[in-house]
Amino acid sequence: MTQTSSGPAEIGVIGGSGFYAFLDDVTEITVDTPYGAPSDSLFLGEVAGRKVAFLPRHGRKHHLPPHRINYRANLWALRSLGVTQVLGPCAVGGLRDEFGPGTLLVPDQLVDRTKSRVQTYYDGEALPDGRVPNVVHVAFADPYCPQGRRTAVRTARAGGWDAVDGGTLVVIEGPRFSTRAESLWHAAQGWAVVGMTGHPEAVLARELGLCYTSLTLVTDLDAGAEHGEGVSQEEVFKFFAANVARLRDVLFDVVGELPRADERDCLCAHALDGLDTGLEQA
Ligand code: ADE
Repeated sequence: MTQTSSGPAEIGVIGGSGFYAFLDDVTEITVDTPYGAPSDSLFLGEVAGRKVAFLPRHGRKHHLPPHRINYRANLWALRSLGVTQVLGPCAVGGLRDEFGPGTLLVPDQLVDRTKSRVQTYYDGEALPDGRVPNVVHVAFADPYCPQGRRTAVRTARAGGWDAVDGGTLVVIEGPRFSTRAESLWHAAQGWAVVGMTGHPEAVLARELGLCYTSLTLVTDLDAGAEHGEGVSQEEVFKFFAANVARLRDVLFDVVGELPRADERDCLCAHALDGLDTGLEQA
């Protein structure tokens, strides 16, 4: 089934408060889902003539660590509003010297090193209409929307930020940072950046037939690439806060350029073709 947009939002941005706090006019709504409550209220606003729903991934008080986020509820809530495009900005550590703080990298691949997160809607339980089993295997060879990625890279560059086009994001369980050995191993695999929240957002979006684009902002060099004491939370938060306005500007430009629901012609839009997902009953 292909999701078409007719609700109060067409684009979802899962980020921090910096992304909606700068808008004059937002409507706060609470959304419940069959999977429980999302991280926080959703904030509806308009950017570049497009209807956007903002969701603070960690909650507005940043009270949810990466492994406690209800990723299923977050993506479900966005879909229930009519969202077909999701932008997932996040802070990451660079695994190579050339990806130092301030790098904007739009990954094209993902490695899941998380341990405890529920990462599917299709877990064999009854479908909303009572049918069983609920087993669906979505293709995930290319985890990110190719159209969204192209738009993000082009738009960031046009705005003067020389975004890196592609690279592998490895997602660790957290909430601790990597040991030096883990970090060196990640780098030796050829992976580019490391974060804690990039998974399972992308796969859940794919399971709902939504486009998902990750934009990673490097806030630090991870333990294996830097030669001091390793990464600290203070360093990451401080750098992210100092750069959030710049990142928000890029995101808002990207929002204006993303394909509308009826213009989508990517693998995400067709991810559920021929699969009996039961989503139309949900
Ligand atoms: N988020 C920001 N920096 C990070 C790092 N070095 N490792 C994991 N997640 C991060």
